[in-house]
Amino acid sequence: MFSGKLVRIRGMEKSDLDHIMQWVNNPEITRFLLAFTVPMSRAMEEKWLDGATQHTASDKFFALETLAGEYLGGCGFHHIDAINRHTEIGIAIGKESHLGQGYGEDAVKLLLRVGFHALNLNKIYLRVFAGNSRAIRCYVKCGFKEVGRHRQHRFTAGEWHDEIIMEVLRSEWETRL
Ligand SMILES: CC(C)(COP(=O)(O)OP(=O)(O)OC[C@H]1O[C@@H](n2cnc3c(N)ncnc32)[C@H](O)[C@@H]1OP(=O)(O)O)[C@@H](O)C(=O)NCCC(=O)NCCS
Repeated sequence: MFSGKLVRIRGMEKSDLDHIMQWVNNPEITRFLLAFTVPMSRAMEEKWLDGATQHTASDKFFALETLAGEYLGGCGFHHIDAINRHTEIGIAIGKESHLGQGYGEDAVKLLLRVGFHALNLNKIYLRVFAGNSRAIRCYVKCGFKEVGRHRQHRFTAGEWHDEIIMEVLRSEWETRL
C-alpha cells in the first residue's frame, strides 16, 4: 500500500461496488468525467469493476481512501507506455463533502511518486475539461503544466468545453522534492 500525508491507494476490490454506486450518478462529481455522460446501472459498474480489480501492463486502477481507511474514490494510471515511459492519470473523489480539502492534491502527488519511483516512468500527463477549475488548480499545485488544448473537444450539460492537456516530466518533479 502507498500512502501520502492524507490519503493512501490500494487495489480495487469487488466490495468497493457499494461505495462506487454512491457517486457514479451524482452530477456534481461526474459532470467533468468522460465516462459518465448518462446514468450508470449497478450491473454496468459491476462489470467495469471486474476489469478494474485486475491490473494490466497498460492500466492500473486504485481505490483512494483516507489514512484512517475511509473510502474517498478512485484513481489510476491509463495507457501506460513502457517503451516511451509515460502514462495518463485519472482521479475522482466521490464524496462531495471531501472536495476542495486537499485530498486531491495529496492523491495526485502520491500518483506522481508511484509513477516515477515505482513504475520508473519519465512523464505523467492528464486531460481535463477547461471548465473544471477545481481540478486544474489541484493539478497546478502538483506541478502539472498546460502543454496543449483541444478546442471544443468535450460536450457536457449542453455546452462545449476545451480539453486541456497537462503534464509533468520526472526531471521537473524531482526539482520540487
Ligand atoms: C479534481 C479533484 C480530484 C481535485 O481534488 P480536491 O481534493 O477537490 O482538490 P484540492 O482540494 O487538492 O485542490 C483544489 C483547489 O481548487 C480550489 N477550488 C475548490 N473549488 C474550486 C472551484 N469551484 N473553482 C476553482 N478552484 C476551486 C481549492 O481551494 C484548492 O485550491 P487551494 O489549495 O489553492 O485553496 C476532485 O475535486 C474531484 O475528484 N472532482 C470530481 C471529479 C473530477 O473532476 N475529476 C477530475 C477529472 S480531470
